[in-house]
Amino acid sequence: MPGAPPRTAQRGGSGGRHPPEEALMKVLTEYLAHPESHTLAYYESHGGYETARKALTQLAPADVVAEVKASGLRGRGGAGFPTGMKWGFIPQGSPKPKYLVVNADESEPGTFKDRLLLEKDPHAILEGVIISAYAIGAHWSAIYIRGEFARQHAILETAINEAYARGYLGKGVFGTDYDLDLVLHRGAGAYICGEETALLSSLEGKRGYPKLKPPFPATHGAWESPTCVNNVETIATIPWILRHGGSEYAKIGVFVPGEEGKPPKVDSRGTRLMCVSGHVNNPGVFEVELGTPIIDVVEKLAGGVWKGRKLKAVIPGGSSTPILTAEEAGQMCLTYEDCAKFKTMFGSGGLMVIDEQQCMVRLLEVLLHFYAHESCGQCSPCREGTDWLYQIVRRVEAGRGEAEDFKTIEELCNNMEGRTVCPLAAAATMPTTSYLAKFRDEFLAHVAHKGCPQRVAATVHGAAPAAVGV
Ligand SMILES: Cc1cc2nc3c(=O)[nH]c(=O)nc-3n(C[C@H](O)[C@H](O)[C@H](O)COP(=O)(O)O)c2cc1C
Ligand code: SF4
Repeated sequence: MPGAPPRTAQRGGSGGRHPPEEALMKVLTEYLAHPESHTLAYYESHGGYETARKALTQLAPADVVAEVKASGLRGRGGAGFPTGMKWGFIPQGSPKPKYLVVNADESEPGTFKDRLLLEKDPHAILEGVIISAYAIGAHWSAIYIRGEFARQHAILETAINEAYARGYLGKGVFGTDYDLDLVLHRGAGAYICGEETALLSSLEGKRGYPKLKPPFPATHGAWESPTCVNNVETIATIPWILRHGGSEYAKIGVFVPGEEGKPPKVDSRGTRLMCVSGHVNNPGVFEVELGTPIIDVVEKLAGGVWKGRKLKAVIPGGSSTPILTAEEAGQMCLTYEDCAKFKTMFGSGGLMVIDEQQCMVRLLEVLLHFYAHESCGQCSPCREGTDWLYQIVRRVEAGRGEAEDFKTIEELCNNMEGRTVCPLAAAATMPTTSYLAKFRDEFLAHVAHKGCPQRVAATVHGAAPAAVGV
């Protein structure tokens, strides 16, 4: 479809301040600054729903899938799987109904981008749902929203009712013979229900237990029918891609082709909403072009490390992703390939900034408490292992650790990884092993000093230790 992408600068940061404009992109955030951005009237005033109308009246479903494949879009929920390819796995010959489910569970610590879209641009999500459901042949779809998102739930509910009233959902969408129903399903506050198979179990009214894969939801999803699960940000990107063309989206970001017959060397296209939190002056959500150096996000967009302190570490993609030292973060750009090079992950885009005063043992203790609490308890290595990890690190932080503890932690991690139904166990072990490898001295110092050396010093000098920023 015609039209050049608006590659101009945008106002950034949900915090409302103004970072250097040239560092930001406008694919998802172009209209969010308007106070009425969540309303149907405003959405329609800048061409909203016209792309879905065109797709349904002028394109075959396979053409829509082809456009998304050409865009190079990869899922923004965590794993980064190519979206067009995922849609292509939905078996069109199957006599069973097909479903589209939008994952709005957003529970990974440090992640708050989907919340922004749900609150500020619900109609972009709905337009994305219409196009995506049409592409995969679904006539029923659901948005599974995090239980704690009461405000966002209310906004989305209003938007869905408006879309039904306008004929954008329901029988004969846009006057065509295509029918689409959309259900808004509210979760009950379990982190594990963000994992797609657990989400589908919960959607079916069962306990939110993850299931072994294969079979994948594409063939055996909700009610054992072909189901595509996509993240909110992924779905909200679809209208832009169809409006401007997949090839225009593919020009944003970084792409380096491989040698003859080989896969591309770098394939990180488009923009991502980065949620920047922790010890920075200007935390918020920033839409950045893939390939942007991490240090630019920290320094230029998020206003640098607070209180004039030095950068100590960066968690790049939500609390489950392996941590980077300041030196590593300084060498890294936001691409899937750089993440792999530095043995970490892009994850959910939750970039947490850690300053020089943060105790890394305390930080790990806080994260492990979360994962131990959120284990669904189905697999013994995860149910027991996450709690053991938490208890040991807690003991080390409290000054009752022993040198042997680190060997036990490593053995525990080895016994947990790859032995569970879902990746939650790995979400606890991956940060643990990276903290121990990169900040081992701090862990050893806790044993030697019988507690946090910073706290011991603070007690002596009467100053408070640094607070945990996550
Ligand atoms: C423990 C766990 C929690 C997850 N939580 C979320 C979540 O809150 N939101 C989300 O979109 N994906 C989450 N995912 C990833 C989903 O399983 C799934 O891959 C994603 O929704 C697919 O969408 P995408 O292809 O658009 O990225 C989680 C995965 C795991 C293992
Ligand atoms: S790994 Fe943990 S969260 Fe995942 S299914 Fe097993 S017990 Fe549940």
